[in-house]
Amino acid sequence: MEAIVAQNLTKKFDSFTAVDGLSLEVHEGEVFGLLGPNGAGKTTTIRMLACIISPTSGTAQIHGRDITKDPAAVRAMVGVQTESPSLYERLTALENLEFFARAYGMGDPARIQPRIRELLEFFDLWERRGDRVAVFSKGMKQKLAIARAIIHDPPVLFLDEPTSGLDPEASKLIRDLILKLSRTERRTILISTHRLEDAERICSRVGIILRGELKVTGTPEELRRRVAGEAKVVIRVLGAAPELAGSINGIPGVSRVEAGSGELVVSTGDPALTTPDIVRRIVEMGGQILSVRPFLPSLEEAYLSIVEGMRG
Ligand SMILES: Nc1ncnc2c1ncn2[C@@H]1O[C@H](COP(=O)(O)OP(=O)(O)OP(=O)(O)O)[C@@H](O)[C@H]1O
Ligand SMILES: [Mg+2]
Repeated sequence: MEAIVAQNLTKKFDSFTAVDGLSLEVHEGEVFGLLGPNGAGKTTTIRMLACIISPTSGTAQIHGRDITKDPAAVRAMVGVQTESPSLYERLTALENLEFFARAYGMGDPARIQPRIRELLEFFDLWERRGDRVAVFSKGMKQKLAIARAIIHDPPVLFLDEPTSGLDPEASKLIRDLILKLSRTERRTILISTHRLEDAERICSRVGIILRGELKVTGTPEELRRRVAGEAKVVIRVLGAAPELAGSINGIPGVSRVEAGSGELVVSTGDPALTTPDIVRRIVEMGGQILSVRPFLPSLEEAYLSIVEGMRG
């Protein structure tokens, strides 16, 4: 069974359509990334899937339970961190987690206290457990909000820009946590993010939302290939590259050679076929090869190109 299935999910605010007929399937254990410009509808989608707001039309199921017909069952299965404040500023970090642990039905204090300590220590907040959340920094609040979302060990997790505002160390902590939850514990995680390096590292699939519509889905690699055009191979050489370029240009299967300082970028229809010939030719010419690697645009470059193409 799919962990998350959305069919034609639509949200209107008065006459404005924030999410427009969004259909999506996320497999169990997957990390799915929602990408898209500001105001595209990512947070609104997450809020509907987590039963914080109800859709105007369409619906979705979380592990088979319908968000409109069975919201209580859905809420028990999901953890959610969104951009709107989800913590009580006047309570301490400890009190917040105690409150939400009880709200999630974790009745037994013998179970709650060790879990809270484990999370606060993990997020490096244990020393600050007695401070009111109001005095926390942005990143500290963000970490506590994620702790809150996972306190009851939900099988499905919605994280809205989980690494925004976090320092590099804390961002890595969250990325590693997401990978552990999905790969070793088979939890399903839907995140939204503007950090495309994060998405490239942790998402098994991503989708791009534009003006409320889910336009493209695929693995990060598929999106990168989609905009890559013809395959390219980057060869770093010791010394001057330009004099090698002319000779490589004549090899069958090579369509173009760009020579930079110490680098050749070779466009070729089938790198598996031509790369050995290219390498042999460079060696015959007395060139010294430092590295040979396939070239693909980053997910960020792919995203920018796809979004620009769809706007245009
Ligand atoms: N409660 C609301 N009332 C009216 N309009 C809303 C409401 N919530 C969201 N919107 C509108 O819906 C659209 C989508 O907003 P949403 O917060 O889902 O975008 P987003 O993709 O999360 O953007 P960001 O990347 O900036 O977080 C925006 O135009 C926003 O103004
Ligand atoms: Mg948002």
